[in-house]
Amino acid sequence: MNMGRDFHMAEGEGETSYVNNSKHQRKALLETRAALEKAVREVYADLLHPAMTVVDLGCSFGPNTLSFVSKVIEVVGRGSDKPESRRDPVELQFFLNDLPGNDFNHVFRSLERFGESTAAEHKENALAVPPFYIAGVPGSYYTRLFPRQSCHLFHSSYCLHWRSQVPAGLEAGGKEYLNEGNIYIAENTPGGVVELYRQQFQEDMLLFLKLRYEELVLGGQMVLTFLGRKYEDVYNDKYLNHPWGLLARSLQSLVEEVCKP
Ligand SMILES: C[S@@+](CC[C@H](N)C(=O)[O-])C[C@H]1O[C@@H](n2cnc3c(N)ncnc32)[C@H](O)[C@@H]1O
Repeated sequence: MNMGRDFHMAEGEGETSYVNNSKHQRKALLETRAALEKAVREVYADLLHPAMTVVDLGCSFGPNTLSFVSKVIEVVGRGSDKPESRRDPVELQFFLNDLPGNDFNHVFRSLERFGESTAAEHKENALAVPPFYIAGVPGSYYTRLFPRQSCHLFHSSYCLHWRSQVPAGLEAGGKEYLNEGNIYIAENTPGGVVELYRQQFQEDMLLFLKLRYEELVLGGQMVLTFLGRKYEDVYNDKYLNHPWGLLARSLQSLVEEVCKP
């Protein structure tokens, strides 16, 4: 599988779509609101440029990314209302990034209504709405996405646990499946496979940080939320291994169904 080309969340608004199956991710957004608010306030306070560039990496589609956008607009709107804020209103440039297969059309179609509801909410709360612009950026965040020193704030929620590729060497040249029957780390996963995942994580994370370092302005900030492990023992992590184990079994039974003689 080519992650950059083929990977995407389930499109549209049906029962199995990402839009209708992303409450868990929404919870993560709500729990990290305070950290996001703090970062936006600090970036806004130090801003020397007339526009603030804000990026949601791995935005997917549906309400979560727009809820992030809405929070940034609200915090900047509150800041620009303060009497001590004597500068011209700051303009906000949002870039919503995901892999090219993402249902960007869904996001784009929601923008008109989003603009209207933001204007109405801010009016009700007597808050200024800073001018804002929203654009989509298809591409992997494991590549350069923006010009050098051009972004003030990166945000990414529930994405960075996705690897850039299946760890190299996992299929042993296609001859032998080292992690047969599994799609991640399970009780019977060999130690060598765990090491391959660890190395892939380190490579990906290092690359991600190097790339964002190049794109961030001096004093820019990042708010990154992603799944991690509580315990060193990777075999004894029922919160992460168990759901992936169930998913692997479901996939296995689908394959068996299709391959029945
Ligand atoms: C679980 S969704 C989270 C979406 C959204 N941030 C939210 O909170 O609802 C993870 C998203 O990360 C995206 N993603 C995974 N790897 C990526 C990569 N290398 N570059 C950009 N997006 C990626 C997926 O396509 C998916 O839309």
